[in-house]
Amino acid sequence: MKIQKNISLKPYNTFGLDVTAKNFCSITSIEDLKSLATLPDFKAPKLWLGGGSNMLLTKDFNGLVVQIALKGISIEKQSEDQTIVSVGAGENWHSFVLWTIEQKLGGIENLSLIPGNVGTAPIQNIGAYGVELKDVFLDLQAYNLDTNEVETLTKEECKFGYRDSIFKGEAKGKYVILNVRFILTSEKHYVLNTSYGAIENELLEMQWKPSLETVSKAVIQIRQRKLPDPKEIGNSGSFFKNPVVDKEKMESLKSRFPKLVSYALSENEYKLAAGWLIEQDGWKGYRDGDAGVHQNQALVLVNYGTAKGVDIQNLSKAIQASVFRTFEVNLEAEVNII
Ligand code: EPU
Repeated sequence: MKIQKNISLKPYNTFGLDVTAKNFCSITSIEDLKSLATLPDFKAPKLWLGGGSNMLLTKDFNGLVVQIALKGISIEKQSEDQTIVSVGAGENWHSFVLWTIEQKLGGIENLSLIPGNVGTAPIQNIGAYGVELKDVFLDLQAYNLDTNEVETLTKEECKFGYRDSIFKGEAKGKYVILNVRFILTSEKHYVLNTSYGAIENELLEMQWKPSLETVSKAVIQIRQRKLPDPKEIGNSGSFFKNPVVDKEKMESLKSRFPKLVSYALSENEYKLAAGWLIEQDGWKGYRDGDAGVHQNQALVLVNYGTAKGVDIQNLSKAIQASVFRTFEVNLEAEVNII
């Protein structure tokens, strides 16, 4: 394992931000990680890099950046209806989704085309079109940086929530995820999840018979229409979380803004569509230099080329302040700001 000096992280983050890592290495096995752990300054701050799809890099990184490149997809156990699949943290998420479809295994087709790697998917419990990673998650193996031991964390231990897990809270910075196991269902026994209106409409419009393959294709088409491709325009998907408010707040907003988009989560909790709030507030399509708000999805901030991380961060702060002035709702960043 080679440690390189002064490496640009531009190819390693989907915002395409050109910051420099003082030191950079790539690990392809647990042995690589164990040998890193013997370095005298192993406890110094490090940046653990997966697909770089959920981070905003605002400055050069003065320590070691470690790219997690552990590969491999293997079937561990298979019965008539269920299959347990073990996947290396460094596998690309969407390639893994396509593999499951080829294998005729259902469970993550609605999560097609989400950028990033398998190992970072549990950190924010990725979700789209009515499905979340936790719905198919069995457990994961992670390297405990405090004890230098490999541990297995079950679904309960990961404490998944909406775009949330233990890895964003109490265990932040404590683990490096090495491997994730999923429970998938054979297509014959699988009930497709097309309850999300956009998928149903897409299937009807395309006159496609619902199957794992067509649901995945429908999701890909919907995402391609709404979300910019990071290879063309730098972005990190949704920049903010959809905020959750109580019933009283939702009703007072609804009386002022009858078209407010909200979803009931429980009797007293409502999720608001942050994209709607930002659009209503006049930000959709806004551009200042190379930092902007995507024209098809106001929840997505973009780098048209040469924006700096701080430009995007300043734009995000201006949006937060403006949305708060109009709606008195706090928008929380979903992306990690580093
Ligand atoms: N909306 C607007 N204007 C906009 C964007 C959205 O009015 O500019 C309205 C839409 O009309 C719709 C509602 O907001 O009524 C919801 O929009 P959409 O279906 O696009 O979903 P979202 O809530 O904005 C979430 C996830 C996405 C995921 C989609 C589909 C979060 C933070 N984002 O977005 O995830 O793909 O649902 O399930 O929960 C991501 O996390 O990076 C991501 C892209």
